[in-house]
Amino acid sequence: MEDVLREGLSKITVFENVFYNPMAKFNRTLGVVFLNTLGSFVGRGDLVISDIMAATGVRGIRYFLESMSVDEVYFNDVSKNAYRCMLKNISLNNMVGVSNVTAFNLDKFMSLYTGIPFDFIDIDPFGSPLPFLSPIFSNLRKKEGFLAFTATDLMTLCGVHLEALNRKYNVFMVKTDFCHELAIRILLKNIFLVASHHDYAVSSLLATFENQYVRVYIKYERLPSKISMDKLGYLVVDGEGYEFISFKDIGGTSIGNKRLLGPIWIDSYIDKSFISLMKESSQKLGEELRLEGDFKPVTKYISRMMEDDTSIPYIYRISKLCKLLRVPQPPIRSVLDSLKSMGYRSYRSFLYPDGIRTDAPVKKVLEVLKSLRS
Ligand SMILES: C[S@@+](CC[C@H](N)C(=O)[O-])C[C@H]1O[C@@H](n2cnc3c(N)ncnc32)[C@H](O)[C@@H]1O
Repeated sequence: MEDVLREGLSKITVFENVFYNPMAKFNRTLGVVFLNTLGSFVGRGDLVISDIMAATGVRGIRYFLESMSVDEVYFNDVSKNAYRCMLKNISLNNMVGVSNVTAFNLDKFMSLYTGIPFDFIDIDPFGSPLPFLSPIFSNLRKKEGFLAFTATDLMTLCGVHLEALNRKYNVFMVKTDFCHELAIRILLKNIFLVASHHDYAVSSLLATFENQYVRVYIKYERLPSKISMDKLGYLVVDGEGYEFISFKDIGGTSIGNKRLLGPIWIDSYIDKSFISLMKESSQKLGEELRLEGDFKPVTKYISRMMEDDTSIPYIYRISKLCKLLRVPQPPIRSVLDSLKSMGYRSYRSFLYPDGIRTDAPVKKVLEVLKSLRS
C-alpha cells in the first residue's frame, strides 16, 4: 500500500522517481486562487486548462477540485512513472470516468494539443521554462488566454553565474541586493520577446518569488498592434542609485559614465485590480472549502502585494543601506512616511521585508536614514 498524502482537497500518492515537493503547496494554492478569480474575471465556470508538466498531477487535481472555475483538465508528463502516478491519483480523487479529465504521456505535448482551445496552461518545468516558450506560443489555439510559468533556475536568474545569465537570458547584469525582483523582470522580458515573435502581446497579472522559484502569471492576446516595446527597458546605474529608461527612449540618449543593466521588463508586473479580486477569492475559498489554514497565507501574501507598486522596477534594501552608513535600522514605516512627506512615491516591497521602492534619489534615502537615527 502506498502512503496517501493530503494537500488541499486532494489525495496524492507519490511513486518512486516522481517529483513532488510539499514546499510548493503555497504555490499551488495560489494557482487555485488565480483560477477561481480568472473564472469570475472572464465570467465563466467552465475553463479548459492544462497541467502540462504534471508529475503526480497534484496541481491539476487541486485546480479541478478547488477552484470552482475549471471544467476540463488535460494532464501530461513525459515520464512514464509520472504518467502512471497521475492516473493513480486521478482515480484516488474520484476523477476517473469524468469525461472532461484526460491524461497524456508525451514529450512533444503541444503538437498533440493542436485544436484544444485552452484558457490556461500551467508550465512547471525543472529549471528554466525558456525551451518551452516557443513551442507554447507557436501552438496556442485561442486569440487570448492565460499562462503561468515557473522558473527554478535561480542560480542563473539571480546572477550567481552572471555569464550563464547573459548567455541564456540575453541580459547584462551585475550583482544587486534585489536579484529576485530582477529574476522576475528578466523572465518576463524573455516571455515578452518570444510571444512577440509569434504576434502575441503579453501583460503580467502577478508574479511571485518563494524559496527556490519565481513564477509569473500572464495574459496573452494575438494583437500585434498592442505589442509595446515600452514594456522593456534598462536600469540606469550611476553609483548613486537607480533610474530606468524604456527601449523607446534609449535611442540617442547620452548615458555618459552610467551603466545600463538589462534589457528587462520595466512595466508593472502586478495588476492591482486583478489581485484585489484574488484577495476576495482567497478569503472566500478558505471559508467555503474549510481550508483556512492553506488559504490564509495566500490572502496575506496578496495583501502585501497590494501595498507594493511594481511600476518602479528596482528596490532599495534598508538593512544594507543602514549597514553601509553604520546606523541602526529604523522601522520601514518611518522611512516610507519621511520619503512621502518629501513628495516622493514610496512603497514597501512585497518581496523583501526590508525592501522599499521609491522614486527618490538614493541620496535622499540616505539622508532620511541618517535623520531617523537621531
Ligand atoms: C517540477 S516537476 C512538475 C511538478 C508539478 N507540476 C507539481 O506541482 O507537483 C516537472 C515535471 O516536468 C516533466 N517534464 C520535463 N520535460 C517535459 C516535457 N518535455 N514534456 C512534458 N513533461 C516534461 C518532468 O518529468 C517532471 O515530472
